Amino acid sequence: MNKEASDWSKYWGQASALGIGGATVPASFYTSQEQFDAEREKIFRKVWLMAGREAEVPEPGSFVRIPIPPLDTEAVIVRGKDGTVRAFYNACPHRGVALVRECHGKTGLFVCPYHAWSFATDGKLMGLPGAEDFPHVDKATTGLTPIHLDIWNGFYFLNFGEQPEQTLLEFLGEFATSFGDMPFENYPHVIEIAQDIEANWKTLTDASNEGYHVNALHKESLGAMMTTRENPLNNFYDPIFSGPHVSSTTQANPDWRPDAPVVLFAYAAAAYKVQPGLAKQEDHTHGQATFAEHPMVNRVGLPAFSVETTQIFPFSVLQMLTNRYIWFQYWPAGPNRTRAATRLYGPAAPANYRQAFAEAHMIAYSRDIMTEDTIVTQMQQAGLNSGGVKDVVLGEHEYMLRYTHEAVLGFTEG
Ligand code: FES
Ligand SMILES: [Fe+2]
Repeated sequence: MNKEASDWSKYWGQASALGIGGATVPASFYTSQEQFDAEREKIFRKVWLMAGREAEVPEPGSFVRIPIPPLDTEAVIVRGKDGTVRAFYNACPHRGVALVRECHGKTGLFVCPYHAWSFATDGKLMGLPGAEDFPHVDKATTGLTPIHLDIWNGFYFLNFGEQPEQTLLEFLGEFATSFGDMPFENYPHVIEIAQDIEANWKTLTDASNEGYHVNALHKESLGAMMTTRENPLNNFYDPIFSGPHVSSTTQANPDWRPDAPVVLFAYAAAAYKVQPGLAKQEDHTHGQATFAEHPMVNRVGLPAFSVETTQIFPFSVLQMLTNRYIWFQYWPAGPNRTRAATRLYGPAAPANYRQAFAEAHMIAYSRDIMTEDTIVTQMQQAGLNSGGVKDVVLGEHEYMLRYTHEAVLGFTEG
């Protein structure tokens, strides 16, 4: 912490100084079925997967159905009568039908559409027509198959192992405590953008975890807002690590100004990638704590802070902005395919037309930036699949990528 420092470059992360290798990684890391199979068995089926917010199931009986693409299955997350949140495979123990079809809802009883076996919100079998035909089915021991679920700071995580090798808190390590009171709950208003992307999930975590491409790929959309003469390649600052997870800070350009009043309104209301001074023109915080005040955000005290980027292994990336956060989930669906769910979280739904316009502008703008990334990662995947590149090369400041790759390889080759 040094708010007086003028040479901020000393806080840039650098792979060699951090002892992180991985300057090259074989193209097959992103393309081969064998690598994907190893990731599925040794990572996606083993570690805690950050899957949703507890607030999605606010009341007893509230449920959501979520696809789990890497394991080719679906989970039902439901809050029981007792208030406990549980997860189950979406599969009826009679003959296997996926019994929940709605994306979300509220019920006291799940009834299978095929033969009408019914299940309570705690997964127990409650009734089956013609029970006398099934003397071998013990209602006390039959029910939906549970999936391990635990909750940290309002996020629910799933673990598909028979028995998790670590508790969720062990898996999160130091971040469990230091990020444990990050005020995510103050940002309940969510907009989700889902995309099927023809690229490996790691091309997408890679794109989220470096600033090197900002002034090239995002030159028109983000360049002026994010880059400065002192940091033209948008190097990230102050890396911190916790097990396989990593976090770094990004700056904004303090000299950037929106070029029209209407854009200023949009950015100020959305508090999106803009310095806190501008965001204060409209107070959307309702007096609640914002990310900007949290000690784990902008730890070095950059005068023009923009984003704290936190990769929660394996495929979630959180971006804490001054007064908003974005959660990228890059669900792996195959060596060449990712189901991306991007969630934009804000403090509240728009309360007037100006705020509604600001939000629409923010969504369209975010969508533009994401499209730039999506298209280029698909182009990257095509290039890697072509066989024309043997190894991918990573720079010193692409240390978040290297760190994540080393973590992946630690599991798949371990
Ligand atoms: S498959 Fe569900 S009741 Fe038969
Ligand atoms: Fe990008």
